[in-house]
Amino acid sequence: MRILLLTHAFNSLAQRLWAELQGRGHVLSLEFDIADGVTEEAVAMFRPDVVVAPYLRRAIPASVWRKVPCLVVHPGIVGDRGPSALDWALQEGESTWGVTVLQAEAEMDAGPVWASVEFPLRAAKKSSVYRNEVSTAALQAVLQAIARIEGGADVPRRPLDIAGARGRLRPLMQQADRALDWSRDATETILRRIRAADGFPGVADQLFGEPCHLYDAWPEARLGGTPGALIAKRETALLRATVDGAVWIGHVKRPGSIKLPGTLAFPRQAAGVPEAPLQGWWRVPQATWQDIAYEEQGGVGFLHFEFYNGAMSTTQCTRLRAALQWARARPVRVLVLAGGQDFWSNGIHLNAIEAESLQGGSAADASWRNIEAIDDLALELITTGGQLTVAALAGNAGAGGCFLARAADLVWAREAVVLNPHYRNMGNLYGSEYWTYLLPKRLGAARAQAIMRERQPLTAQAALAAGFVDDCIAGDLPAFAEEVARRAARLAADPALAQRLADKRAARAADEAAKPLAAYREEELAQMRRNFYGFDPSYHVARHHFVHKSPASWTPRHLARHREPERRAA
Ligand code: COA
Repeated sequence: MRILLLTHAFNSLAQRLWAELQGRGHVLSLEFDIADGVTEEAVAMFRPDVVVAPYLRRAIPASVWRKVPCLVVHPGIVGDRGPSALDWALQEGESTWGVTVLQAEAEMDAGPVWASVEFPLRAAKKSSVYRNEVSTAALQAVLQAIARIEGGADVPRRPLDIAGARGRLRPLMQQADRALDWSRDATETILRRIRAADGFPGVADQLFGEPCHLYDAWPEARLGGTPGALIAKRETALLRATVDGAVWIGHVKRPGSIKLPGTLAFPRQAAGVPEAPLQGWWRVPQATWQDIAYEEQGGVGFLHFEFYNGAMSTTQCTRLRAALQWARARPVRVLVLAGGQDFWSNGIHLNAIEAESLQGGSAADASWRNIEAIDDLALELITTGGQLTVAALAGNAGAGGCFLARAADLVWAREAVVLNPHYRNMGNLYGSEYWTYLLPKRLGAARAQAIMRERQPLTAQAALAAGFVDDCIAGDLPAFAEEVARRAARLAADPALAQRLADKRAARAADEAAKPLAAYREEELAQMRRNFYGFDPSYHVARHHFVHKSPASWTPRHLARHREPERRAA
């Protein structure tokens, strides 16, 4: 089938559908939902059999849905309607939720239901549920719907005609619906409300008497104080007391600014808040905020780094490197770098870099420090000789984060993961993290260049087929964690491991003799210096638009294939 994806942004769900549908032999093109005229033009140029809309913020024009079947992915159960589907479900503590694929008609979310898939609803951040359960259910539902259309099925029933449909029309959730009352609300209520609004729009509240939106909330089991008081800070998170405990606030957005780690958003005010540090890297058993946590199981060390949005600032890279150095001295022979639940890594921290320039500093200098710090971390991993290292990707990875993963000996990815192992989308960034050493070594020079040039998202299966990852593991987050632990324990118990480690050290020494890692780094950083300090400001412009979430004004040509004459007919 010829399928046109119509979407507000090329987000993780759109990327997954793009990669999965192409992998099944469909011919895909994509247009951003910019204006009705642009959508009409895209349909006229591409002549799709069906339009699939994974993520829209407005209605599809009648001129389009009257001409070609348009399948809209709605993140709600059958009968649910409205723009805050997941927000209501999470805030009201639904135990199951779902995704419905409807055909667009005049009335929003009320057209014929081509497919629907339900799942148990996890008490987690909205963005996490979206990237995990919703994305997997949406893929299944879209595949079912397309198979039905391809098979010539009759147009199905509308939600109102489906007996027993639980869903209903809900309004846009307002900030008044999300409001927090720190003098009365229990930890559980505050967590649920902030999670239902994460990563957008956040919950409007106040910190230090200043208005701001809150994100990234974590429970605290041991500390407490006067309800509403800011009682502690740890690294970049702020701890606020509730009536029955306390909640860590990881991220904050102040009016007119961008989303930032708590203490970065309020640097002056946070200076007076007492520190509540953790000693060492061992995972704390009680609920708390711990972004880097180490544990051992079955002769294997697991290093978790739960960095919001997978973004890794200079300080986070430096701290993670210190944790890795410490873990290298532990008596384990297999070390799993487990990343976070939602992301493994998305490379350098573009918001923290932007914050430097917003506060009068140099974004170029901040970028430089960050790339040096992430390179130091990658170097630590590449030169780990005494242990077999495994990057276990439970969540997505992008740009430098992909190559940081590739710095490990083995990369295992969960099947639902999407990888973007390229940099150029960020203003033609050249990239570092030793990718010029790591990538051609795995894939050969030609394939490495193609991956960088084509800038395509890869499903875990496609990344496996391309040779970028070593294994692809099915299942949800807990099943993946269990399987990773099982396989890692098997590796650790393997009598051949000592020889494998000796071979690894010998291979590294041979590579170093052929061309030292320092030379790769120097060459990459020479290019990065031009990106950061050169006369072409593309990277700074792209970063500015990315962190300020500027709406797209055109669709990149590598996605809008209908706009490339030679590919239109393909
Ligand atoms: N620094 C800071 N924030 C980042 C980030 C980074 N490197 N990468 C992603 N984010 C943030 C996004 O701004 C977004 O924030 P939100 O909480 O306000 O929604 C959130 O993470 C999720 O990103 P999104 O783009 O919606 O996720 P996705 O899964 O749809 O797309 C990527 C994933 C990797 C394609 C995309 O996030 C991306 O291009 N990131 C930039 C990668 C990069 O260029 N890094 C620098 C070079 S190493």
